[in-house]
Amino acid sequence: MKACSDSTDRGIFNAVVSSNRQIGERFYKLKLELSGPGAKAFSKFKPGQFAQLDLSTAALPSPDSIPKDLADASGRQILLRRPFSFTDVTTQKDKTIAQLLYQVVGPATLRMNTLASSDSLSIIGPLGNGFWVPLGQKTALLVAGGMGAPPLQHLAKILTADHSDIETIAIAGAKTAKELPFESRLDEISQQLGFSLSEFANYGVKSMVATDDGSAGFAGPVTDCLYQWLEEHGSGRDSIIIYACGPEAMLARLNEIAKDKNIDCQISMERRMACGIGVCQSCAVECRVEDSNETIYKLCCDDGPVFNSREVIF
Ligand SMILES: Cc1cc2nc3c(=O)[nH]c(=O)nc-3n(C[C@H](O)[C@H](O)[C@H](O)COP(=O)(O)OP(=O)(O)OC[C@H]3O[C@@H](n4cnc5c(N)ncnc54)[C@H](O)[C@@H]3O)c2cc1C
Ligand code: FES
Repeated sequence: MKACSDSTDRGIFNAVVSSNRQIGERFYKLKLELSGPGAKAFSKFKPGQFAQLDLSTAALPSPDSIPKDLADASGRQILLRRPFSFTDVTTQKDKTIAQLLYQVVGPATLRMNTLASSDSLSIIGPLGNGFWVPLGQKTALLVAGGMGAPPLQHLAKILTADHSDIETIAIAGAKTAKELPFESRLDEISQQLGFSLSEFANYGVKSMVATDDGSAGFAGPVTDCLYQWLEEHGSGRDSIIIYACGPEAMLARLNEIAKDKNIDCQISMERRMACGIGVCQSCAVECRVEDSNETIYKLCCDDGPVFNSREVIF
């Protein structure tokens, strides 16, 4: 079943910041509260969908707290909204709370970290198509590369709440331990039981960590960690599905592994997005036409961002 976006439910809403706190050198958690029609629209937000945030009026941090590598870019005006997915969306009475995990990489995300409690910002959404759960799945492997973690955290929650017959296991990778976008790793006993990251353990989901330099968990790319897991545990299992978000090279390698092992694989793609609603055509993704050698361009914002990995030309 495809988790379609219902464009009739999306709109431009006002969101109020309820907290914004630093969890790593360049990682922050932002909590937004929506009420009225915005609360109703975002209560239907599905893992893998996204929202466009207007950060044009947010203030820049003081010059001494701007990282040196972003000093030149920091002065750029923020003309376009920026796309973000959420790590969690909950409803509380007549409010919807959307939680966002972001990394400071440029002028908009730099301004985002000056947002304070009770500031408000304009948000468009829910946008795009999220992950879907085909019938008959028994094991879901969530593979996150770097900042690909947010939609997979949200998916972990929905899979455990609505699909308790599916065993969900997460694998999160980054170049180094410092670049893993999580608050903390669990103690040794939890890790021996297979629970490594509290963000997934909170939903009863086991997790593994992989770092390219071996500073935490498996030493090597997250795709090698997945491959090793499939070699050791995959053959005794039916109906495995991979859900992934991360850099394109990682998604391409996952697609090869999924094809090799005959496993379904859904990937959340990233493109620079100007409008986010299928108008500007700036977010093309080249895709195969089924049963043909032809290719077509689909829109990451409107047809995706989640695609079946087999349809994407990498
Ligand atoms: C569907 C979707 C969901 C996203 N969810 C999150 C999220 O949950 N948390 C988060 O921190 N970020 C997320 N992003 C990325 C986020 O939109 C960018 O980091 C942000 O727009 C950067 O804005 P900036 O002005 O700070 O930096 P910019 O100056 O705009 O970008 C800094 C650098 O990051 C790269 N970059 C920025 N945006 C993209 C993009 N869309 N695709 C590929 N490369 C890009 C560029 O190479 C650029 O040089 C998401 C992107 C998409 C498309
Ligand atoms: S961002 Fe404008 S069409 Fe996709």
